[in-house]
Amino acid sequence: MLTDRQIALVEESFRSIAPIADEVARRFYVRLFQIDPSASVLFAGTFMTLQRRKLMAALGAIVSGLRFMDEIRPMLESFGARHAEYGVIGPHYDSVRTALLAALRATLGDTFDVETEAAWDAAYTEVAAIMQAGAVPGTPATLETLRDT
Ligand code: HEM
Repeated sequence: MLTDRQIALVEESFRSIAPIADEVARRFYVRLFQIDPSASVLFAGTFMTLQRRKLMAALGAIVSGLRFMDEIRPMLESFGARHAEYGVIGPHYDSVRTALLAALRATLGDTFDVETEAAWDAAYTEVAAIMQAGAVPGTPATLETLRDT
């Protein structure tokens, strides 16, 4: 459960990177592919220009939803189920956490202080846990995803 203060710190820092969102996404993927070659394989056929935009749009939607976790939970569960279909497994979520925090640190510099980093870490942990819960076969979220295809 995130505190109001943590949510405010995540919202505020995300707002401040909006003008250079594409650069942040670029840093994120460069770092991710450095630390986890098994993650880069999953993006072998991906058009990264578009993927960077999709990532930042999704992060924006998630950040806006942090105050309404119960409402966005089903969306995050299906998002996790979809990711499982892309071949994403548990350890990839740790690599993404490391790469995301590193990209934010490299972009925000001193404003990415200890408290802000801890807030992002807590938010990511919560979101990643829900996504992974949605990736369990046979959950409603998975069935919903299958019906859509
Ligand atoms: C908070 C965490 C994450 C966010 C916000 C995110 C965001 C996105 C978005 C918006 C897409 C576009 C397609 C869709 O909506 O399904 C996508 C696709 C994808 N994501 Fe993620 N993702 C996250 C975690 C991960 C993790 C942990 C991995 C594993 C390395 C991963 C790998 C992929 C792959 C392989 C695709 C498919 C790319 C393609 O279409 O070729 N994502 N992600």
